[in-house]
Amino acid sequence: MNTNRITQLFNIKYPVVQGGMIWCSGWELASAVSNAGGLGIIGSGSMYPDILEQHIVKCKAATNKPFAVNLPLIYPQVADHIDLIIRYQVPIVFSSAGNPKTWTEKFKQHGITVVHVVSSAKFALKSQEAGVDAVVAEGFEAGGHNGREETTTMVLIPMVANAVQIPVIAAGGIGSGKAMAAAFALGAEGVQVGSRFVASVESSAHINFKKKVVEAGEGQTLLTLKELTPVRLLQNKFYDQVMDAYRQGASKEQLIALLGKGRSKKGMFEGDLDDGELEIGQVSAAIHDIRPAADILLDIMLEFNHATQHIGAIQFPT
Ligand SMILES: Cc1cc2nc3c(=O)[nH]c(=O)nc-3n(C[C@H](O)[C@H](O)[C@H](O)COP(=O)(O)O)c2cc1C
Repeated sequence: MNTNRITQLFNIKYPVVQGGMIWCSGWELASAVSNAGGLGIIGSGSMYPDILEQHIVKCKAATNKPFAVNLPLIYPQVADHIDLIIRYQVPIVFSSAGNPKTWTEKFKQHGITVVHVVSSAKFALKSQEAGVDAVVAEGFEAGGHNGREETTTMVLIPMVANAVQIPVIAAGGIGSGKAMAAAFALGAEGVQVGSRFVASVESSAHINFKKKVVEAGEGQTLLTLKELTPVRLLQNKFYDQVMDAYRQGASKEQLIALLGKGRSKKGMFEGDLDDGELEIGQVSAAIHDIRPAADILLDIMLEFNHATQHIGAIQFPT
């Protein structure tokens, strides 16, 4: 079998999606992944509408393959982003951080495929009821903002796959073909990869951040700031300040003040490794190099094929 519901839904070769990532996934990364046979996503959550427009135009010029826009629904100018997506006929939207009921019907009226990101079976069901075409089920290991439930990918995927009939794309901790094979064994039909693509040549992350991701070891990320929006951060001076604030019993208002404004841009886009916010997943401990996105994707697929053959050959009499 060399197609499945996800490759057919998006009209792509490999069921691998590059996750939308603020400050990291612009048109260069999205088009590189789409050209290599996956699905590239422009992360619109860090873009003003005029910037998103430029990225869509450049992405269209750089690839004739399908690509998507990730739309965090809490974004203040979400309606302007939606107008652009419709005007430029972007074929696929990955919505996150909000209620899929609000916009899905509008997208469907314009023939746009809609995928919603969830971190629980309950919200996967709600997304299916809202009419989305697939869900991304994102586990606790993932980089960026995450669910409060702290359900790991290993536990989440089978629960979501049992709960819904639409296809499930697994996310969180997947940076290799072996991890992709595990996700398929759990019931996923595609994977969404974020952190691994931060450390790609085409990602718009600052080189300081990319190098820091390569250097990251085990246990150096933590899901924190749950009182605000839970986010998985890499250890640095800002992270230590957050930990100190918790030790001193900081209130929600004090945490908001500490976070301030523009921290994620400062860290991930401008490369301030001390005072910036560095969002990355647990899998950063297993990322050892910065490589072209196409090579990352092909390696994942080669390793996936090897892993599934290897596991398929193991049979115990029952
Ligand atoms: C730096 C960074 C920024 C992210 N920004 C977003 C975002 O804007 N919207 C979103 O839906 N997910 C965002 N994510 C989550 C990714 O799309 C993806 O689901 C996640 O990274 C998958 O887990 P992994 O990091 O273990 O591969 C972000 C992740 C990272 C690492």
